Amino acid sequence: MQRRNFISILSICAFAIFILGFQLKPDFFDIPKTWDLAEIKQFLLPTADSTIAVTPISESYYYSLPEMKVYKSYPIRLTGLEENRKYIDSLKALNPVDYFQNEPRTEEDLVRLGEEVFNAPIGLFDYSEEFFKELNESIKSAEIPVSKNTFPYYTYVVDEKSKVKVGVFSCAMCHTRVMPDGSTIKGAQGTFPMDRRDGVAGEFFLKSLPKDKLAEIDKDVRTGRIALHKAPWISHSSQMELDTISAARIIAYLKAIPPGVMLRHGSNFNQPTNIPDLIGIKDRKYLDYTGLMMHRNIGDVMRYAAFNQILDMLNSYNGFIPAGLDFKTLPEPGKGDFIGTNKRYSEMQLFALGKYLYSLKPPKNPNSFPAEMVKKGELVFKREGCVTCHTPPLYTNNKLTPVDGFTPPASHYKAYDIFDVSVETNPELALYTRRGTGYYKVPSLLGVWYRGPFGHSGNVATLEDWLDKRRLDEDYVPTGFKPAFVKTMAVKGHEFGLELSKEEKAALIAFLKTL
Ligand code: HEC
Ligand code: HEC
Repeated sequence: MQRRNFISILSICAFAIFILGFQLKPDFFDIPKTWDLAEIKQFLLPTADSTIAVTPISESYYYSLPEMKVYKSYPIRLTGLEENRKYIDSLKALNPVDYFQNEPRTEEDLVRLGEEVFNAPIGLFDYSEEFFKELNESIKSAEIPVSKNTFPYYTYVVDEKSKVKVGVFSCAMCHTRVMPDGSTIKGAQGTFPMDRRDGVAGEFFLKSLPKDKLAEIDKDVRTGRIALHKAPWISHSSQMELDTISAARIIAYLKAIPPGVMLRHGSNFNQPTNIPDLIGIKDRKYLDYTGLMMHRNIGDVMRYAAFNQILDMLNSYNGFIPAGLDFKTLPEPGKGDFIGTNKRYSEMQLFALGKYLYSLKPPKNPNSFPAEMVKKGELVFKREGCVTCHTPPLYTNNKLTPVDGFTPPASHYKAYDIFDVSVETNPELALYTRRGTGYYKVPSLLGVWYRGPFGHSGNVATLEDWLDKRRLDEDYVPTGFKPAFVKTMAVKGHEFGLELSKEEKAALIAFLKTL
């Protein structure tokens, strides 16, 4: 009797799982809604000028955009032309693999597929040998760090039988680091000098251009850059310049951006953003150097990816729409010209991407310093008060610090975690760009051994330089990002640890390199 009951309960359960499992599949993982405007309202920090209303596209606009497909990508091999021909032919024989044709069912599936979303380019163009030759030239002319035999920032994609496409603008393009030994770390501060590459290519193009075409090109290039960088409500010289800038001047600006730093849309030529390390993102409360977006849960990572890839170009800033028609009107959904504004990731793709980012682990630390030295360094770290802001175990207190020239409105103290001390670094990214909130967040120091340059615009290349007090002098030559048209420049602020003795500094750096 008992046994019969047991069996019937089991079979009822199996039946229920069958039915419910079938019906509840979309909710299998409890996926947050990405474009939820109530959530987005809290997720986005206001711009430094709080009179500017930032209005993202509506829910109906967002969900009427066609979904991206994530196809299998193949590495770009840096071989001779003949060998590459064979490789391309072998790719042409492959069938497209659409990764999300079957829904993921387990956490492992999600992480694995999330990595494919990370690798998936949002821009595709047909492969040609011209591309391959130019790529090899640009590696030399723009000094692009590449891994042993591959170009790790782009991929080949097969989305149609017997066609090979080149894919660009994946997350991996900017968030992959090539180490000095040629190995790569996914998610770490990227090393693709995209802007420098564009600058070098642009310079070559301009030289070959007939003089009578110059005015037209100036206008086209300027219009693109206004979309990327303009914040029309700000009257700082760096913003005003965008209205009349020439292609030649833009090229000079682009050439000044080193690996590790990027002119992310919403930043500007002299206020670029350092590329953050994504390893350890799960524990960070604010995203971006200016803390522009909050991170409360995986839903916010999904929102971050959707906005930055790159639907925030369709935000309205008091009526100015960066990728709008004439900067004023939204294109019809799916008809935008700007790469990334005519598609969206599916909810499942974004959820998987978030899971993948959460799963990223730091590489094995090869540093070994004498235990005594590390211990001494840790004591210095505590004594100098670094722990107040870079609090273990995350090595950040996860707070925002107001920049010079910004007074947080009273309402911010309730809404955000503010550590009310300015570290007095250059405030321009936080005040004079679309990414500006009036704050810099306290970055985590985990993983500083494998990254660099440092600071919100990556002005110094190494920890040694960050702690070198000569950087405060006007005749200092920044070792990281040095703006174009500038020979020397002080890298101001964050004067902690600058007065230490040589031994103590060495010990502090040794300690930092173990984190
Ligand atoms: C063209 C280069 C580029 C691409 C493509 C790109 N990123 Fe980024 N990413 C950056 C830069 C630069 C920043 C720093 C922005 C800032 O501080 O304002 C950044 C910041 C971030 C941050 C904030 C991390 C932190 O701690 O502040 C996350 C998360 C992130 N990116 C994830 C992604 C994901 C996921 C994708 C793909 C969907 C992606 N990025 C695509 C360049 C890029
Ligand atoms: C009052 C808070 C505060 C204290 C104290 C402090 N820092 Fe920082 N630290 C910051 C902030 C804020 C930034 C980001 C500044 C910027 O990018 O403009 C930063 C950036 C850094 C960076 C660059 C990290 C990166 O990812 O670019 C390093 C390295 C660093 N701090 C080390 C230290 C050390 C070592 C000490 C002690 C000697 C220290 N900090 C003391 C707030 C602090």
